[in-house]
Amino acid sequence: MEIIIQPTPEAASAIAARMIARLLREKSDAVLGLATGSTPLLLYRELVRRKLDWSRVTTFNLDEYVGLAPDHPASYHCFMWENLFRQVNIAESNVHIPDGLAGDIPGFCQRYEEQIRAAGGIDWQLLGIGTDGHIGFNEPTSSLASRTRIKTLTQQTRADNARFFGGETAVPQHVITMGIGTIMEARQVVLMAFGQDKARAVAEAVEGPITAMNPASILQLHPVARIVLDEPAATLLRKADYYRWVYDNKPDWQKA
Ligand code: GLP
Repeated sequence: MEIIIQPTPEAASAIAARMIARLLREKSDAVLGLATGSTPLLLYRELVRRKLDWSRVTTFNLDEYVGLAPDHPASYHCFMWENLFRQVNIAESNVHIPDGLAGDIPGFCQRYEEQIRAAGGIDWQLLGIGTDGHIGFNEPTSSLASRTRIKTLTQQTRADNARFFGGETAVPQHVITMGIGTIMEARQVVLMAFGQDKARAVAEAVEGPITAMNPASILQLHPVARIVLDEPAATLLRKADYYRWVYDNKPDWQKA
């Protein structure tokens, strides 16, 4: 794991944007795994500003709420089109987001996995983290080998996401999410976290035991996982000074 601690979300997002810009320069038909939530907003803004060529890029989003139509303002479809896709030259046919209205959910999930495989697998997967350590919508106790499937949200996650729905009762109970096994097959993974509210989940994921109680902790087993944090999200890391030293002393060619 590489832990990158930056003074602000802006600086952290700029680093992630540079990683994606470099990937798209080297591989114009890259396959990106994308995330939603507040955390990636600055990254998406920076990617739009950079005017990269998305014409050959394929994307797969992590998750979607079951029961929400793509034009529902709190749907992840809406989020992605508004904050990124509509502002870059991506082909609509290359965008994949789980279908919250799928009639046959297990069948849909199986096809989603097949589409990821058919695209050649995910080159670069972006993740946020829930206050309970979830990645995608893989809540604590999710199988660490899980594939794309339906999940039931915890009360904590529904409370955390109530702000997008104008109240907790309006937050759907079920979601479709890429599994942890699916996420772990991406060639590179970048988890971003900002703010003090994420500090405990981040510290447990990075320095705690690998456990289904903190799904993000599985990233300790990923060969190319980067954790990009602002200072408040890094406050509970015991080895923060070491991570800063490592990053500041990297050879230039290794820097993001
Ligand atoms: C949501 C999403 C996750 C996201 C996380 C954090 O529930 N399903 O993919 O990483 O919660 O959200 P935020 O970035 O808004 O804190």
